[in-house]
Amino acid sequence: MDKISLLEQKQKEALLGGGEDRIKSQHQKGKLSARERINLLMDEGSFQELGMLVKHRSRDFGLDKQQFLGDGVVTGFGTINGRLAYVFSQDFTVFGGSLSEAHAEKIVKIMDLAMKNGAPVIGLNDSGGARIQEGVVSLAGYADIFYRNTRASGVVPQISAILGPCAGGAVYSPAITDFNIMVEKNSYMFVTGPNVVKTVTHEDVTATELGGALTHSSKSGVAHFAAKNELDAINHIKRLLSYIPQNCEELPPANVYKAADECRPLLDNIIPDNSNQPYDIKEVICSVVDKESFMEVHKNYAENIVVGFAKLAGKSIGIVANQPMHLAGVLDNHSSIKGARFVRFCDSFNIPLFVLVDVPGFLPGTDQEWNGIIMNGAKLLYAFSEATVPRITVITRKAYGGAYDVMNSKHIGADLNFAWPTAEIAVMGAKGASEIIFKKEITEAENPAQKHKEKEEEYNELFANPYNAAARGYIDEVIKPRQTRDRLIRGFKMLEHKVDNLPKKKHGNIPL
Ligand code: HXC
Repeated sequence: MDKISLLEQKQKEALLGGGEDRIKSQHQKGKLSARERINLLMDEGSFQELGMLVKHRSRDFGLDKQQFLGDGVVTGFGTINGRLAYVFSQDFTVFGGSLSEAHAEKIVKIMDLAMKNGAPVIGLNDSGGARIQEGVVSLAGYADIFYRNTRASGVVPQISAILGPCAGGAVYSPAITDFNIMVEKNSYMFVTGPNVVKTVTHEDVTATELGGALTHSSKSGVAHFAAKNELDAINHIKRLLSYIPQNCEELPPANVYKAADECRPLLDNIIPDNSNQPYDIKEVICSVVDKESFMEVHKNYAENIVVGFAKLAGKSIGIVANQPMHLAGVLDNHSSIKGARFVRFCDSFNIPLFVLVDVPGFLPGTDQEWNGIIMNGAKLLYAFSEATVPRITVITRKAYGGAYDVMNSKHIGADLNFAWPTAEIAVMGAKGASEIIFKKEITEAENPAQKHKEKEEEYNELFANPYNAAARGYIDEVIKPRQTRDRLIRGFKMLEHKVDNLPKKKHGNIPL
């Protein structure tokens, strides 16, 4: 056989992975092959494979007689919507996509290239975990990847799609990456599977209940997105990348924007007359940002805070907003953690922050206290305080107590703070406050209920407004809701070249 034909034969063999039958069985489960996934993700003809002919080096358990070129993972680089990206796609048809020494080396190679060349790493995960026959060598391979995930964190964006099993220590690579996308069928993540759970805790639970997409996108927050199918998952990756720069030294990609009428009159009627009545903060977000540009992250997890990306006058922004529709927009353990992680991502990658505030405070209760609301609330406070990207806040209604400080107040480094005329900025709400400070007058009154009502009104008049804060400059301008988009566009333009450095340090010690 001539040398070119030999190469062609090897390439053909590599393209087949574990063989046609196994690819078929993958399809029967509703899953795509590793290469089909890459073809959907990368621009046509742009994918350059690296390490196609890599083989494992195991000799035990008869593995020397089972060799598959590529060793269960397809790796390389290419473009996604014209921008460079690195990708690895695990091939379940080869030893269940399990991770061998050689398989790990291939992933490590593209991660190192991504770091040196400043471009995102996309991991398409579908694996039975450590290649059992290789023992500690495969564990070492995982650790090599975890180490690089950590080193790359905040340098280049890292996105994981979970398209099959992801169990044991293997979950820690996606956990360190910036975003996890799971598919509703066929994907699960857990540290210990249902059998071990049954033995240890006697709980009966299926793999999907324990660690499927719905579980992780709503209960644990491990998954930022639950996609309907693999194509949907890949489209999520592409959309996500459209808001994010290639690395921490660059700015996010911008769309061309032609200035237009930025007034949004409908916003003037969005706050209900009764201050305890909810409204949907997503309506405010969508009215303010460019049309159909809002991409919500963690949609079904800790719904009392809304986070996500959008474009404003063509430029990327990150949004953090209390959601009065859920738990009155209160801050609790999960929402604090969710908000903090998002803020840190945006700050790492030069994405300006727009914060919408309507928060009655922190959620009281033993559940919250015993599960660490002190430390978790501090995470959000810390994340905002250390963020050096442009930051603008708009208080739509309530900004009470510590939550006022935490939600990107001027005092913790926000650049511009606006309030709507409906804003209520105070230590606490009128009912609680009047009960405390007018206790004596109320109890001694002939009609305590009537007195309480009077005192509540008095308090509301004095404090439930934005004007005390504006008088001190804590609020830069009280604006009509319709002016919000205009003020944000002007504000972020003014802050475009903001320079703000943290004090010299090795790294801070966020209350984890
Ligand atoms: C070697 C593996 C493998 C593994 C699967 N295979 N997992 N080979 N090492 N970890 C092989 C199977 O032997 C089989 O080969 C083929 O992949 C397909 O597997 P099936 O079991 O037939 O597929 P399915 O029924 O879909 O089940 C998939 C699975 C199951 C749920 C993933 O294979 C499984 O439970 N695997 C073991 C998972 C596991 O315990 N891994 C170690 C986790 S601990 P043949 O040739 O028969 O088709 C871990 C530590 C990481 O990963 C630590 C990092 C710090």
